[in-house]
Amino acid sequence: LNNGLARTPQMGWNSWNFFACNINETVIKETADALVSTGLAKLGYVYVNIDDCWSTPKRNAKGKLVADPKTFPSGIKTLADYVHKKGLKLGIYSDAGIYTCQVRPGSLYHEENDAKQFASWGVDYLKYDNCYNLGIKPIDRYPPMLKALNATGRKILYSMCEWGVDDPALWAGKIGNSWRTTDDINDTWASMTTIADLNDKWAAYAGPGGWNDPDMLEVGNGGMTYQEYRAHFSIWALMKAPLLVGCDVRNMTAETYQLVSNAEVIAVNQDSLGVQGRKVTVSGSNGCSQIWAGPLSRQRLVVALWNRCSEAVNITASWEALGLDSSTSVSVRDLWQHKDVAEDVTSSFAAQVDAHDCHMYILTPQTGSRADI
Ligand code: DGJ
Repeated sequence: LNNGLARTPQMGWNSWNFFACNINETVIKETADALVSTGLAKLGYVYVNIDDCWSTPKRNAKGKLVADPKTFPSGIKTLADYVHKKGLKLGIYSDAGIYTCQVRPGSLYHEENDAKQFASWGVDYLKYDNCYNLGIKPIDRYPPMLKALNATGRKILYSMCEWGVDDPALWAGKIGNSWRTTDDINDTWASMTTIADLNDKWAAYAGPGGWNDPDMLEVGNGGMTYQEYRAHFSIWALMKAPLLVGCDVRNMTAETYQLVSNAEVIAVNQDSLGVQGRKVTVSGSNGCSQIWAGPLSRQRLVVALWNRCSEAVNITASWEALGLDSSTSVSVRDLWQHKDVAEDVTSSFAAQVDAHDCHMYILTPQTGSRADI
């Protein structure tokens, strides 16, 4: 979407994966505080996004959406002011149906007034869900909200949450800044790997202004191992997914922080070329060895070696698989070790990768030129 927003994938935090409906203004403010105090804001995590359950079960007498007075007594405008003072941006949530998934009022047929309301509160981001949609096609329900957001004159990032219904990658590029390609993620290896594979199919449709959204990060929520979360974060970054942290950032472990604060991996996600990396090869006895890769600016490549099985494997990335001429000499930087690990490498590169772990490298050709992959 050419609204000047999300020229690189949006980054921030969202309340749903950890808090679900247990949200209130204190949690949101403390999260904003934590994003700043931990340094995550400086690394690019600037959107503080409130998900479902912020509003009362009914509109008010004037037909307006109202923040739940028990949980958000100061109102959304005050919260937006608070977040803005910290140099962050506020996101809110509504639904392209008559109710949200948690049965709060939806914005279907209220698009104009609700968009005006969000803009007047100073909202910077709208996640727009897909529940209670009366069976109307997404392609008929998502554009009216875009029109309404545009009409406010405020720059509001438009995150479509239509769960991949009707293959949005094929039509959403002109409608939203991102579109969900799948059902909801949950905090398991099975869910994360399935979603990565489903999202991969649409790589060709992502680019500056419009990204495939494989759903928010589960890193730090406890259901996966350190290696699995490292794979999750690496592959989401490589796929140019929106990076929305979904844990309680007020109480992150050192390991969680180390993963989501890796500036070199974030830089891959935010690379100016804006091309979604893809699954390039699957090999090994049980298809354990996967190579995911994609082009970056300045002729570089990002390469992830991902072991999808439960024993360590040696994974070899051949230049052929990466679209490089085998004589091309390459330097290799390891983005998790933060080290240049090899120079003048030709024809292939290999590493031993632990169970469910993922290594991530940037390859910089020293001679020759990169073919398209
Ligand atoms: C479904 C969405 O896909 C989730 O991300 C979350 O927003 C919930 N609805 C909230 O009810």
